[in-house]
Amino acid sequence: MNHFEFDQGELSCEGVRLSAIAEAVGTPVYVYSTATLERHFTVLRDALTAEGIVDPLIAYAVKANPNLAVIRTLARLGAGADTVSEGEVRRALAAGVPPERIVFSGVGKSADEIAFALKAGVLEMNLESEPELELTSRIAQSLGLRAQVAIRVNPDVEAGGHAKIATGKADNKFGVSFAEAQRLYARATNSPGLKPVGVACHIGSQITDLAPFEAAFGKMRQLVESLRAEGLGVERLDLGGGLGVPYFNQPTPPSPADYAAMVARATRGLDVSLAFEPGRVIAANAGVLVARVLHIHERPEGRKFAVLDAAMNDLIRPAMYDAYHDIRPVLPRDAVGVVYDVVGPICETGDTFTRDRTLPPLQSGDLVAFMSAGAYGASMSSEYNSRLLVPEVLVKDGAFAVVRPRPTYEDMLARETAPAWQEP
Ligand code: LLP
Repeated sequence: MNHFEFDQGELSCEGVRLSAIAEAVGTPVYVYSTATLERHFTVLRDALTAEGIVDPLIAYAVKANPNLAVIRTLARLGAGADTVSEGEVRRALAAGVPPERIVFSGVGKSADEIAFALKAGVLEMNLESEPELELTSRIAQSLGLRAQVAIRVNPDVEAGGHAKIATGKADNKFGVSFAEAQRLYARATNSPGLKPVGVACHIGSQITDLAPFEAAFGKMRQLVESLRAEGLGVERLDLGGGLGVPYFNQPTPPSPADYAAMVARATRGLDVSLAFEPGRVIAANAGVLVARVLHIHERPEGRKFAVLDAAMNDLIRPAMYDAYHDIRPVLPRDAVGVVYDVVGPICETGDTFTRDRTLPPLQSGDLVAFMSAGAYGASMSSEYNSRLLVPEVLVKDGAFAVVRPRPTYEDMLARETAPAWQEP
């Protein structure tokens, strides 16, 4: 459930008309709902605790939507953060996530990033390879610390979904095999700079079936048991993120309650504290991208293009993953639907949001909203074609605030510097 609804015929967010935001901030613009972010977090947390999972760490995957105001909304409810770069660690800290609720994951952390995270006192480094284990141990030792680490395992399960976001098969770059995990865990135990506290996995994203999770979690359980059988202590099990969301006409994902019941089944009696790294399930349906129709361009042979002022640099998911986003006119006309190709102004054919989509009739100047765009939307935006970075707005209870302003063209140009030999 989300808080984007039609109110007196006009698409609104928590009582704020999207047209009012477009008027004030311009388009394209991302709009996020505080109530929806909060709801998604609490529904997941309550589902887990209702299953008897005590004090789960819900480490919000910052990459889904790294805006400080979004992270802060969740941090105030007790969320932790799953981070994959120094930038994300800094964002989580700046938004008020306590370091002891921050997990640092990722296959390629640099020495500087590791040192920064250790000095900041993050809860756990999720190690993805032997060289990373050695590097982390050396850095921790040089800082006079013992880094709490988890070994990220690649459970080798097929999670479905788009190939570009599957992470849990043995031929993906993520994590180590179960055999390697056993060896590295023992090695970490004997490394002066490290204290292994657990094991972690993350099998992919937009997963719409519980079976791959259950298969992976069953294997993780066996790993915990066999590590313990060797006398190694395991306190924590990080089960990653990946739970899918309903993108309108897409397969219906399991509910947080079904997911929680499965987690409880898979981990019953294991006596570990559980961590989760949800991103999309919290942020996707809490945000929309509002754009304006620039032109309706009609080919003589019949194809109709709705050309928007938003483009693939603002929302890359359709171009990159063939992702489906529901598109709703903000003030729909009550008339027979028309078939459109909805495109942006960027100079490549990939800048097509959808082809042959039946929508209410559109005219130049109309506003449309891309639904379910709160996760991996603004987060993956760029300035391609020297378009200004898309602004972001957060709504709460009938009020809204710009939480990332649109830069000016002067800002954009001022970031670059001329080499000395080009000076006049
Ligand atoms: N933890 C780790 C280690 C991850 O790599 C990811 C996502 C998550 C948690 C959060 O997964 P979620 O709950 O959001 O599914 N840009 C793509 C999605 C990439 C996901 C990458 N990793 C998209 O737009 O669909």
